[in-house]
Amino acid sequence: MPSNHPKMQPPADTTTLIDGLEQKDVVVSIDDEGIAWLRMNRPTKRNAINPGIVFEMNEALDALELDDRAKAIVITGSGEAFSAGQDLKEYFREPDSGHPMMRERLHRANAAWQWKRLMFYPKPTIAMVNGWCFGGAFQVLLGCDLAVADEAAKFGLSEINWGIIPAGIVTKSVAMALSQRAALYYIMTGETFDGRRAEQIGLVNIAVPTDQLLERTKVLARTLIERNPVVLRSAKVAYHHCRDMGWDAAYDYLAAKSDQNVVRDPEQGGQQGMKQFLDDKTFRPGLGAYKRSE
Ligand code: ACO
Repeated sequence: MPSNHPKMQPPADTTTLIDGLEQKDVVVSIDDEGIAWLRMNRPTKRNAINPGIVFEMNEALDALELDDRAKAIVITGSGEAFSAGQDLKEYFREPDSGHPMMRERLHRANAAWQWKRLMFYPKPTIAMVNGWCFGGAFQVLLGCDLAVADEAAKFGLSEINWGIIPAGIVTKSVAMALSQRAALYYIMTGETFDGRRAEQIGLVNIAVPTDQLLERTKVLARTLIERNPVVLRSAKVAYHHCRDMGWDAAYDYLAAKSDQNVVRDPEQGGQQGMKQFLDDKTFRPGLGAYKRSE
């Protein structure tokens, strides 16, 4: 890709960049706290993931990556659903009967945003599960770093009910996130469970009553925004890579990754923290983050 390609340029006018996005199946907004809200927006179809959501999500994630106003990303859904999973008509049936390469392109673009982009996204991500969450929506949920759910939200690996297996990369993600007992139970029964149960089995971090969902999500996003963004990014990338590495390789990789932070971090977080704790005595690292300069 040539370096003058628009996607390689920092936005000259970030407002125009976001306003310029085609906001139909995904609505993007950034609030004045730096939280970027990405809302799957097909409420009458329970936000089933169609090609529109797939391609608009990729574009939105591209745009937000370069938009300095966006410091943490929250993904949620319009209406009563987070998402009812892949759209059986527009994501499966119609592409299955079209040109095979178009189908492949769609599936590749879907893997890009739900998995490869989200898992390694350079800014922290939170799934705010506001309602129905089925099938392919599990990958959106597990692609995000953290998750807050409405206690009343309903989850299900419903693939077995359709006579299919949780594909894409859902089975792998579920296997990494849940115990074998919980994963196989929901993969094999297709039963639904609520937000409280999702919290118990570790599928989401926090489940709260409906009226607290938005505020609890904002509190979590603010916590992430207070942290050093370079180190936050390294920490999550290191987590994902280390899970698949042997011990010696992981040890060496983490040492190299730590050194990389020293080069990449313009605010030199480690030094700041040490100074504020040891010299200034203005913070206790056990109890919160060091104070970042504005
Ligand atoms: N794909 C395509 N269309 C969908 C999907 C979907 N995954 N989910 C809902 N819709 C559509 C319905 O066909 C319906 O469209 P219509 O109004 O044109 O008839 C509309 O959304 C509303 O759906 P209802 O079933 O009427 O809504 P209700 O609130 O009663 O039920 C529920 C919601 C439980 C989510 C139900 O729609 C459902 O079971 N959806 C499928 C969930 C699922 O199994 N997802 C996994 C798909 S497989 C995968 O992701 C790999």
